[in-house]
Amino acid sequence: MVASTHIYEGEYAFRHCVVASTWAFEAQGPGSIPGGGATDIRKGLNSNQPSRLISVSTSRLDTVVILAAGEGTRMKSATPKVLHSIAGRSLVGHVLAAVDELNPKNVRIVVGSGRESVESHLQEIAPKAHTVFQEKRGGTGHATQLALADIKPEGTILILAGDTPLLTSHSLKELLEVHNAGGFAASVLTAEHPDPTGYGRIIRGDDGSLLRIVEERDADELVKNIFEINSGVYAFDAKKLVGAIGKLKSNNAQGELYLTDVIEILRNDGGQIAAALIEDFIEVLGVNDRVQLAESAALMRERINEEFMRQGVTIVDPTTTWIDATVKIAADVTVLPGSSITGSSLIESNAVIGPRTTLIDCTVACCAEIAESYCSGATIGESAKVGPFSYLRPGTTLGKNSKAGAFVEMKNAQVGEGSKVPHLSYVGDATIGEGTNIGAATVFVNYDGVEKHHTTIGDHVRIGSDSMLVAPVEIGDGAYTAAGSVITENVPAGAMGVARAKQRNVIGWVLRKRSGSKSAEAASKSDEKKG
Ligand code: UD1
Ligand code: CA
Repeated sequence: MVASTHIYEGEYAFRHCVVASTWAFEAQGPGSIPGGGATDIRKGLNSNQPSRLISVSTSRLDTVVILAAGEGTRMKSATPKVLHSIAGRSLVGHVLAAVDELNPKNVRIVVGSGRESVESHLQEIAPKAHTVFQEKRGGTGHATQLALADIKPEGTILILAGDTPLLTSHSLKELLEVHNAGGFAASVLTAEHPDPTGYGRIIRGDDGSLLRIVEERDADELVKNIFEINSGVYAFDAKKLVGAIGKLKSNNAQGELYLTDVIEILRNDGGQIAAALIEDFIEVLGVNDRVQLAESAALMRERINEEFMRQGVTIVDPTTTWIDATVKIAADVTVLPGSSITGSSLIESNAVIGPRTTLIDCTVACCAEIAESYCSGATIGESAKVGPFSYLRPGTTLGKNSKAGAFVEMKNAQVGEGSKVPHLSYVGDATIGEGTNIGAATVFVNYDGVEKHHTTIGDHVRIGSDSMLVAPVEIGDGAYTAAGSVITENVPAGAMGVARAKQRNVIGWVLRKRSGSKSAEAASKSDEKKG
């Protein structure tokens, strides 16, 4: 979708939105198609109107209303629609994040279906927001009436839905600037959608002004051929909206009160209406089913990855890299294919993540490398190496230059600077000092079947391969354990702990007990060679 092919008022043009106000552009009647706009953008420009975009402080934004009471039937889910998430945030969480940047005085969220779970989620992510309960679906107009019921109408009210996660604060700010600068009664964010099915259509007059919005279910064929849709995002003059909202009627196909009908009411009362056409229609995509959920997630992934790449992060394969909106990554980090970085994860410069690595709520210091691993709630120190095929669980802290190597699982384990657990080990509930080496296939036996116990290992310790360290147990600084030991008692500093049966060889056993076998044959040949 190319904005420049659309009609708009030049001086109101901005990067994402172009504006067609009631006075400022040529005709685009019903049936027009994307790219088919008129050209003389100045025709009919009223000289009383401001000729430049006035920067208006967003402090005028009094109230934001988020409509989120719908059932989300098409999700076919026990979870309310707005609680489904993409990129680490709920759908309504994305909307709230965009709204938060506008710093509104009040936020009101209309809840209905799944009220309790939606309210407890909102309590967590937006404790200052006020919820309004809509018991029965009565339409977007009805939901708005409830939201405005006890409001003191002042300044500007922004209304939007809770299921449009891709909407940016940037576009909302632009809509508000247009709205405030033009002194409009209402300003509607519109988009030209390649498949407008299901959306309300924007009906413009011969002069291009916004006349009304017609819902798909109330539309005739001519209207259905309009590609310009109502995004469901509006800025209203609060006083005018409060005056008009009570006049809505439910004489439509769904028998509901449509918020969209308020446009015509305001117009009939002499108000001017702006229609701000957004350049990138993906911002206004709503999520109504799981297919759209996946589509929006993919679009969000592209957006997040692009932003990181522009900030200096190398993402080798953006199509297979999933990074949550909540993650922080420094410049010069490299993310290899098939990786996912989520939650509150924070990655410092020059770290290399992947391939095929999952980081959930992890902190990764500069220059660390994590390959083919799954890590949750772990802190990975400077230049530490993890993987391939490590599983780091919550409470794991790896010191500078330390290592959790191939097929190593760790949980609640602090590994000191330069210490290494290179192969095939389980380290649970442990403190390991500096410069220590844990031999292959060591198990920290932390669970007695009832309780978990801690193991403490000093500095520069050498744990022999295949040691079982039965907790609670302590291994002193500089101590060794013999390979294959089951260590049940503390090993003092500098001692060698040996806890295994002494070896004995039963000479000639194979020839006696396995005569005729290949082993017996090999054994007798060996005896012959030796003479
Ligand atoms: C609405 C608009 C349509 C627009 C589209 C954009 C109306 C009448 N139509 O249609 O012009 O193109 O959004 O996505 O407004 N809700 C409530 N209470 C209700 C009904 C709805 O809170 O009684 C909430 C829903 O949870 C949802 C939002 O309002 O978040 C929009 O409702 P929805 O039913 O999805 O409207 P659309 O048919 O998509
Ligand atoms: Ca919708």
